[in-house]
Amino acid sequence: MSIHVLFLAAEAEPFVKIGGLGDVAGALPDTIYHLTKNLPPDEKVDMRVVLPYHFAIKQKEFKPKHLGQFNVHSNDRAFPCQVYEYDKDGMPIYFLDGEPIDEKSPVYSQDPIHDGYKFVFFSLAALGLPEFLDWRVDVLHGNDWHTATAIYALNHLESLPNTLKETKTLHTLHNLPYMGVGVQQALTDFGLPPTKDKSLPEWARHLPLPLGLLYADMIIAVSPNYAKEVLTPEFGCGLSEFLKTKGAALDGIVNGLDTDVWNPETDEMIAQKFSSHTLSLRMDNKRALQQKFDLLVNDDIPLLTLISRMDPQKGIDIVLKGLSYWADLPWQAILLGTGNPVVEEMARQLQEVYPDRVRSVIDFNGKLAHQLYAGADIFMMPSRYEPCGLSQMISMRYGCVPIARATGGLVDTIEHISHKVNGGTGFLFDEPYPSVFAVTLKRALKHYANKETWKKIQLNGMKIDFSWENSAQKYIDVYKALLN
Ligand code: GLC
Repeated sequence: MSIHVLFLAAEAEPFVKIGGLGDVAGALPDTIYHLTKNLPPDEKVDMRVVLPYHFAIKQKEFKPKHLGQFNVHSNDRAFPCQVYEYDKDGMPIYFLDGEPIDEKSPVYSQDPIHDGYKFVFFSLAALGLPEFLDWRVDVLHGNDWHTATAIYALNHLESLPNTLKETKTLHTLHNLPYMGVGVQQALTDFGLPPTKDKSLPEWARHLPLPLGLLYADMIIAVSPNYAKEVLTPEFGCGLSEFLKTKGAALDGIVNGLDTDVWNPETDEMIAQKFSSHTLSLRMDNKRALQQKFDLLVNDDIPLLTLISRMDPQKGIDIVLKGLSYWADLPWQAILLGTGNPVVEEMARQLQEVYPDRVRSVIDFNGKLAHQLYAGADIFMMPSRYEPCGLSQMISMRYGCVPIARATGGLVDTIEHISHKVNGGTGFLFDEPYPSVFAVTLKRALKHYANKETWKKIQLNGMKIDFSWENSAQKYIDVYKALLN
């Protein structure tokens, strides 16, 4: 008998993507499904993904089939839930719709109460789906606060249908600070009172993420290092003591990368394709950037880049201040991103101070991102915290050497260069201060000056296998362990 996994997420590629969760929920179930589909029945994972039928998905070309409806009950009424099914290359995707997932709201609105009803309804609807389909669930796999309510509710339902009687739960932790504040009323209205369990601090007993984590049979953080960090007061957001009580039921698996999309050998968006065997061609991409941005066209001036949501988590201010330490050294920088207006303004100002060498592009521009990965020499990623992170993996695959804060998944994915290069792929710095970043940047620039050394660092990074297969296999092992 195959392993039945119901995978719940608020967003997933290619249907709808807002952030890193969308990348993971797009690639991980898919990889698991394809890795196992030709195996004997008891090794096969029958993977099914459930998403809210967001307005943004309805706008797209996918035309899922309407299967029918069932009711989700709040304390005082029944909400019809419409079930749609889409066949993604053999793997079923279910879109659930109903009044709280209303007509025209964005995937995440600015209103926590609205989002609360939407995702509590969605979580409960996802729990109603197995009975509607008459399909047994072996593992319920949740992601982030949006779907954590399903795990809590599974442990609260008075009488479980046969399809959910033996179900084990796994929750992937992408970002601990987002716990679902504002959802309490929705939980209460849908018959889910705060827990009385004292292992959670009192303030957390009515929040979806802590409630899901409390009852999850297994918690997987998106990198092994983040799984350790959340046990410390600095990263634990008030839950470190509680998370320690989970013991071996908390572990980490690093995310993978879609190596088809992110491949410098086949990338149609860049000026010149290249690979580890034709690395010298890469320089055309750098020249193209220098020309496009009206910077001095010179192969030897190190070109730095930063591509990021401009959000306090990402620590962009650290880089913006740190660069000024080396105003007397030759470098150029192109910064790309949008988000927090204060950070955006800082980036604009940096360009005003250094009009001959800094370009700040306040935009979300996928094509330019590809070009920057392919042409810049150094990728800056100063995150204050980073559960996994994706862009450092992309940059290494494109021969753009990362300088990153030593936090979360950045530690697991970047091989730090201290003195000798050996297998090193980038440079990590500890404290999130501009001066510490600046010192590390200077070390990196010293290595950059030696062409042979630099090439070795680039090749080390380009050769690493960041594909999803390894991580997907680890998730499969966790499913099996849960069922034994
Ligand atoms: C969150 C984290 C990021 C991680 C992503 C996918 O966005 O901030 O580090 O890569 O989730 O797991």
